[in-house]
Amino acid sequence: MTIGTVRERLRAATSAAHARLHRHPGLSAAAAGVIDIDGYRALLMRLYGFHRAVDAVMGAHSSLTLGAGAARSNLLESDLDALGIPRDRLAALPLCATLSPLTGAPRALGARYVVEGSALGGARIARALTPLLQPFNGAGCRFFSNDGGRTRVWTDLLADLEALHGEPEQEQAAVDAAVETFHTFEDWMQDWAPASVKAPSRGSLLENGVWD
Ligand code: HEM
Repeated sequence: MTIGTVRERLRAATSAAHARLHRHPGLSAAAAGVIDIDGYRALLMRLYGFHRAVDAVMGAHSSLTLGAGAARSNLLESDLDALGIPRDRLAALPLCATLSPLTGAPRALGARYVVEGSALGGARIARALTPLLQPFNGAGCRFFSNDGGRTRVWTDLLADLEALHGEPEQEQAAVDAAVETFHTFEDWMQDWAPASVKAPSRGSLLENGVWD
């Protein structure tokens, strides 16, 4: 697989934050398949507060030329619905209010890189959740299973990002926005874990084939 120049820069600039998120108690428990159903619902609700805020900011950005694919917050709504959380409870959840403004297309693309990139790792998390979601006939996993036409979204996004190459200021704006978005997400998730979730040991992550 050839990795484009701009993507390489984005990866390098965000790899430390990405690695830290692998150790987040809720995300790592989900990735290791050791989260219980209450913890999973609570994790999705916390993620919803971030993704709903991001989607609102992105939706206001007319210069983003992305292909089809349901907004990530819509997938969370569908999962929470399948797991029995009523819509009025979702409407009352706190939303992340600290997202940086996305002035200009390069910044919007950089932030979108983080949101869409998180769906790539999600496919693995989805596999680990299969036993947990058996009583729901496998429903409740659209967000992590990368559902909603996201392959096309990711390909289109990478093409838009690579088009910034050769425009140093625009490239830098995309990288800065990606780093900021990762940090905002980390802050949003930090120190947060439902009572029922304990961080899994590294051993259990390896046993479940989460890490390469
Ligand atoms: C325990 C949680 C996570 C795991 C296990 C995980 C795992 C992975 C894996 C395996 C990939 C590579 C997938 C591929 O190339 O097919 C990936 C990519 C990526 N992930 Fe995560 N991830 C996690 C959480 C997150 C979160 C919370 C974010 C952002 C908020 C994120 C952002 C990204 C990005 C931006 C990429 C694309 C990197 C690239 O350019 O190749 N990940 N993740």
